Amino acid sequence: MNEVVIENVSFSYGRQTVLKSISFEAEAGEFVCLLGPSGCGKSTLLRLLAGLDAPTRGRITVGGNTVTGPGLDRSVVFQDYSLFPWMTTGENIILALEQANANRKKAEYREIAREHLSRVGLLNSFDKLPSKLSGGMRQRAAIARAFAIDAPVLLMDEPFGALDAVTRTRLQDLLLRLWRNQTGGKTVFFVTHDIEEAMLLADKIVVLGLTPGPAQGIFTVDIPRPRSRRDIYSSEDAQTLRNTLVSLLYESSLSESEDLLV
Ligand SMILES: Nc1ncnc2c1ncn2[C@@H]1O[C@H](COP(=O)(O)OP(=O)(O)OP(=O)(O)O)[C@@H](O)[C@H]1O
Ligand SMILES: [Mg+2]
Repeated sequence: MNEVVIENVSFSYGRQTVLKSISFEAEAGEFVCLLGPSGCGKSTLLRLLAGLDAPTRGRITVGGNTVTGPGLDRSVVFQDYSLFPWMTTGENIILALEQANANRKKAEYREIAREHLSRVGLLNSFDKLPSKLSGGMRQRAAIARAFAIDAPVLLMDEPFGALDAVTRTRLQDLLLRLWRNQTGGKTVFFVTHDIEEAMLLADKIVVLGLTPGPAQGIFTVDIPRPRSRRDIYSSEDAQTLRNTLVSLLYESSLSESEDLLV
C-alpha cells in the first residue's frame, strides 16, 4: 500500500535542528502539499521521505515499511530537473525504467518511454538532449519519467518553481490530470511556498514554520475536483482557508525572521 506515516520526526544538520517532532500521515492516493517559508525544512523533509538522509529521531514508513534509504516505491522530481544531460530525453526515461524493473526487453522500455513522453506532449523530443529543451519541457520530461517508473509514492520539490506563470499553470494542470488518470492511486508529496498552488493541488496542506517544531497546521482542502483557479477564491470555505494560510505563512514567518529584516 501507499500510505505514508511520518512519526515524531526530527532532523539536525550538525548542531542545527531543522525539523522537530513532525508527525502526520498521508493516506494512499492522497495529494499532500508541504507549505512553508524558505528555510523551514521542506526540502529536508522531502529528502528524508526519499531516504537520502535519515531522521535523527522518529521514523517514516511507506506502506508499513520503515524508510531506510532510496527505494523503488518512491520517485523524486526536483526543481532543477534531474535528467542526465549526456543522454537524450528518451534514453533518460529508458534508463530509469531499466533501473526500476528488471528483465524486460529494451523495446518494451522504449515503448513505455514513448507512451509517457507522448502523454506530456513531448514525443517529438524523444531523441533530443535535455539541453535542447526549454525549462518547462524538461520538467515535463522529469514528470513523464516519474510516472513511467510508476512508483506508488511521488516526491516533488518545487518542481515548477523556476518556471514562468503560464508554463507553471499548464504543468499544474498536467500533473493533476496524470495523477487523477493513473490507476493505483499515487500518493504525492509536493513542496511549495505558494498558497495558491497548494490550494489548487492538495487534498491536505501541511504548514511548516521557521521555528523547528510540530507542523503549524494540517488542513484538508475540500474544494471539489477538478478545480479551477477561480475555485480557490470563490467559495467562503476556500477564502477562510486562504486567509488562515496567509496569516500562518506571512505573519508567523515575519515575526520569526525579524532578525533577518534589518
Ligand atoms: N546540506 C546542508 N547542510 C547544512 N545545513 C543545511 C543543509 N541543507 C539545508 N540546510 C539548512 O537547513 C535549513 C532548512 O533547509 P531546507 O533546504 O530544508 O529549507 P526549505 O524549506 O526547503 O527552503 P526553500 O524554500 O528555500 O527551498 C536551512 O536553515 C538550511 O540552511
Ligand atoms: Mg527547498
